[in-house]
Amino acid sequence: MELIPAAVEAYSEKYTSPESEVMYKLNRETHLKVELPHMLSGQVQGQFLRMVSYMVRPRRILELGTYTGYSAICLSAGLTPDGILHTVDVNEELETLCQKYFEASGNAHKIKMHIGKAAEIIEQLDEVFDLVFIDADKAGYEQYYDLVWEKLRPGGFILADNVLYHGQVLLPESERGRQAKAMVDFCEKVLADDRAEQVLLTIRDGVLMIRKK
Ligand SMILES: C[S@@+](CC[C@H](N)C(=O)[O-])C[C@H]1O[C@@H](n2cnc3c(N)ncnc32)[C@H](O)[C@@H]1O
Repeated sequence: MELIPAAVEAYSEKYTSPESEVMYKLNRETHLKVELPHMLSGQVQGQFLRMVSYMVRPRRILELGTYTGYSAICLSAGLTPDGILHTVDVNEELETLCQKYFEASGNAHKIKMHIGKAAEIIEQLDEVFDLVFIDADKAGYEQYYDLVWEKLRPGGFILADNVLYHGQVLLPESERGRQAKAMVDFCEKVLADDRAEQVLLTIRDGVLMIRKK
């Protein structure tokens, strides 16, 4: 299902800041060498994540789902001078490529990559987060939301990616795939949570932006 008409997407890309040379190369190398390159955030969502980071000026960021490091580099842009972004991925094969581009971005000293299951790594991190980006396995979102909530400062933000799941969330319940069901359940959970306020942004595959009251 085409969520955003191609012409609108192209128009949005035209008037969004272009990728830096490093981000362009990372995007290209991911498409050439890594499976499932559609998972990478890309120019418009990447620029959105950069903007959020510059607005929040976070000291601690948590990202679940590093993939090839594109969104991690974007999110690291607005970190305070003593800021750290913790990013977690279960796939150890991605680490070398990520580190290469973290170095190229100039922010490698602020990005700490953890290899392991998101739920286990979250428990191990003794941090208070200003900003969290959830972009790992869709079935885990509800659990990740609960686990990060206690570690999120009041007034802090969670961004959850793929909440439109290629438009499948709009299908009748019986026709939705497992991942789309997980996304609907996650959005329902946040909607019912009085401790949060949220907005569902129709950027790319849908981003739910949540603020801890
Ligand atoms: C959609 S990709 C992340 C894309 C990346 N954030 C970006 O925008 O460029 C999802 C990633 O989550 C990872 N992943 C899947 N299940 C996971 C889990 N249980 N714990 C940690 N990472 C997981 C996958 O290996 C994959 O690299």
